[in-house]
Amino acid sequence: MNEQGRAVDEVLADLDERRAQDPDVHGSRLFGLVYPTGRTDLEELADSVYKRYLFANALNPLKFPEQARLETELVQWVAELVHRPMNATSKRSPGSTTSGGTESILMSMLVNRERALARGVERPTILAPQTAHPAYAKAAHYFDMDYVRIPVDDGYRADVNAARSLITENTCVIVASAFTYPHGILDPVTELAGLAGEKRIGCHVDACIGGFVLPFLEQLGRPIAPWDFRVEGVTEMSVDVHKYGYVPKGVSVLLHADDDWFFDQVFFYDEWASGLYATPGVAGARPAAPVATAWAMTQHLGTDGYREIVADLCQTVDRMRAGIEAIDGIEIVGDPIGPVLALRSSTVDLHAVGDVMDDRGWNLNRNTDPTGLHMMLSPIHREAVDALLADLAEAVAHHGDSRGKEVRYS
Ligand SMILES: Cc1ncc(COP(=O)(O)O)c(C=O)c1O
Repeated sequence: MNEQGRAVDEVLADLDERRAQDPDVHGSRLFGLVYPTGRTDLEELADSVYKRYLFANALNPLKFPEQARLETELVQWVAELVHRPMNATSKRSPGSTTSGGTESILMSMLVNRERALARGVERPTILAPQTAHPAYAKAAHYFDMDYVRIPVDDGYRADVNAARSLITENTCVIVASAFTYPHGILDPVTELAGLAGEKRIGCHVDACIGGFVLPFLEQLGRPIAPWDFRVEGVTEMSVDVHKYGYVPKGVSVLLHADDDWFFDQVFFYDEWASGLYATPGVAGARPAAPVATAWAMTQHLGTDGYREIVADLCQTVDRMRAGIEAIDGIEIVGDPIGPVLALRSSTVDLHAVGDVMDDRGWNLNRNTDPTGLHMMLSPIHREAVDALLADLAEAVAHHGDSRGKEVRYS
């Protein structure tokens, strides 16, 4: 602990030096965690809005009604994007913002648990594909639910027949990813939601990554199996703006199909000295800046702006896929629908290849099933495709033994 304060310049210089030791979040050598566009206009917009709301608190919508309206408008924007049916006369919200995908998933699982308990289910169980994000297992852990994993087929899509056989009277929600983190694969949403509808239980579509990609792929005419609220049986959906919505961390949207279900998400308490306390998420005080930034970005880009970005991203993905497929000995896992690619090989130790790529300054992610590499492409990677493919081809042809680096997501 320092007793004496330090000069601003010195503190900032210290920070800059330390930041420089980590991967550059604006650059094109990181393949996940951040989603750089390479567009200074968008970064400047985020910066300007953030500054305006730097100290704002989104806890109390009654004290800051206009700030709260930004959240309502953002939630409605996203709801429309994913075709959540709107009841024109309803004054209720289709959902809320949260701090990120994990919190959206936690709150959805809680709501599904509460609905099940109200129906008399004794031990509410989440049924999720083995490729689903760990946030579902976390929800089961936090909320005292059981967690059952659905096996996947050869293409890493949830196996619907297996899902059917795993449903019990305790199953309260079926999860489908649109699309998955490990392999970028779209689960069979229509079939899984159909199962859920048949059993009158919830179906959560995890569009944390896909929510700001799939609608624009569809608008661009790419063939996409149905996955959003137009699918019968979908009850909840998580859509992260802080991923392919290109805003700084701290904002996701959780939507419910039914106007009444948002209220199950809200925790109400008035047995203390300072009046009714009501919050829709885990946090009490929470930053308003991510919400305001997401509102501003969606207003500025509009669906046209996002579609243009996705069109450009598609070209990057297509070039990267073609280049990978052309390298002898490695292949793409399954048939990814968007910008998340997993690589596998039956002849090459891809973790050893990853070590060579690390040494060349690429931060490729590792997968364990199947053993391989993983990349989440962002718009900025348009400038890195050729260099990455050249290094990858060389690393595949010339690599030593794997250094056994631990495979970790976080
Ligand atoms: C498919 C999917 N769902 C949920 C999440 C969780 O999102 P967050 O890290 O914002 O909590 C992620 C994160 O990468 C994801 O890829």
